[in-house]
Amino acid sequence: MLKTWDDKRILLIVGGGIAAYKSLELTRLVRKAGIAVRPILTRAGAEFVTPLSLSALAEDKVYRELFSLTDEAAMGHIELSRSADLIVVAPATADLMAKAANGLAGDLASTTLLATDKPVLMAPSMNVRMWRHAATQRNLATLKADGVAFVGPEEGAMACGEYGPGRMAEPQAIFQAILAALGDSPRPLAGRRAIVTAGPTAEAIDPVRVLTNRSSGKQGYAIAAALAALGAEVVLVSGPTALAPPPGVTRVDVESARDMLAACEAALPADIAICVAAVADWRPQSVGERKIKKGPAAPDPIALVENPDILASLSKHVRRPRLVVGFAAETHNVETNAKAKLGRKGCDWIVANDVSVAGTLGGDDNAVAIVSAGGVERWDRMAKVEVTHRLARRIVEALA
Ligand code: CTP
Repeated sequence: MLKTWDDKRILLIVGGGIAAYKSLELTRLVRKAGIAVRPILTRAGAEFVTPLSLSALAEDKVYRELFSLTDEAAMGHIELSRSADLIVVAPATADLMAKAANGLAGDLASTTLLATDKPVLMAPSMNVRMWRHAATQRNLATLKADGVAFVGPEEGAMACGEYGPGRMAEPQAIFQAILAALGDSPRPLAGRRAIVTAGPTAEAIDPVRVLTNRSSGKQGYAIAAALAALGAEVVLVSGPTALAPPPGVTRVDVESARDMLAACEAALPADIAICVAAVADWRPQSVGERKIKKGPAAPDPIALVENPDILASLSKHVRRPRLVVGFAAETHNVETNAKAKLGRKGCDWIVANDVSVAGTLGGDDNAVAIVSAGGVERWDRMAKVEVTHRLARRIVEALA
């Protein structure tokens, strides 16, 4: 059975900074990966986010006061600090860093940090001058020497109108640092979102007829399942197939290429987009409202217009996923054609497949090449399931 993060817990200390709102998103990401979150909200933190929001996203009680009878009755600060695998401070304000560096214990957050023997990860957030101040840099050095891990801060425009280092790292970066601190995961795509297109599209001619192709959808479904098994949140945008959705995958059923594109765009933002669908390149220019009858009134020929290219659209999208992958089944000049396709579509990789090789089309084996700007990576002929898993692992490496 796949090991999950379900047995892990973090204690999240939310300090008082404008970046506290990002800790809500962080909480959502961490919970989605199956990690329990027990929040401590400092008094200043509560000026920026409400205990109710934090508690709702964490699905746990929010701890706030050192000397609260109810908090202490539920769980004392010593127990709190021991109940987690990792303590995360986000935002870690200059004040919280100073307290932790000097061993102060005047409130629940600092007491918990002093009472713990668990690893601590801090995501600093403060004004650039405060960050650069000798006192903060001293505290940073002390905390590092004490074994505290840091993520960020990032450089950029600040809420106060200044520019420089001090901005809290983005929730996704903190989340990845949390996973790294918790140790190796069998679910390395936890917290990542993937869109996979699969199957054929069906383009209406009239209410009863469609223009379609023979794609079974198996390849796309297998990739969706492999990414989900590695922990990704997968939206499978599927044309009509006879397949059941893989476990843990959200399937969005579509018919036409235009519906498929709209469903993909609605599923953004995403980290990964894998376009496996055999999208009809054309659709009838006009769709008959009624069934077209034989005879002189029947359109002859049926006029076609080009469909949108989903792979190219996602590759050029303002919210482009970090990794966009296309597939290409070719019968000749495989790598040359794949390279040209890569440039034309603007994706990161084309998984090129020589379907002229006996036994690949409709068979169990496949010989693919991964074509990217960096060159061509040829894979030996292997079972299609193995191709799928190797590709999923390659995606993990690319996002690492
Ligand atoms: N694709 C897409 N939308 C389209 C056409 C293709 O997303 N309208 C994607 C496919 O899912 C696949 C890749 O583009 O990942 C390559 O598909 P292919 O049919 O080989 O490319 P075409 O652009 O149609 O080129 P060709 O002239 O070789 O058919």
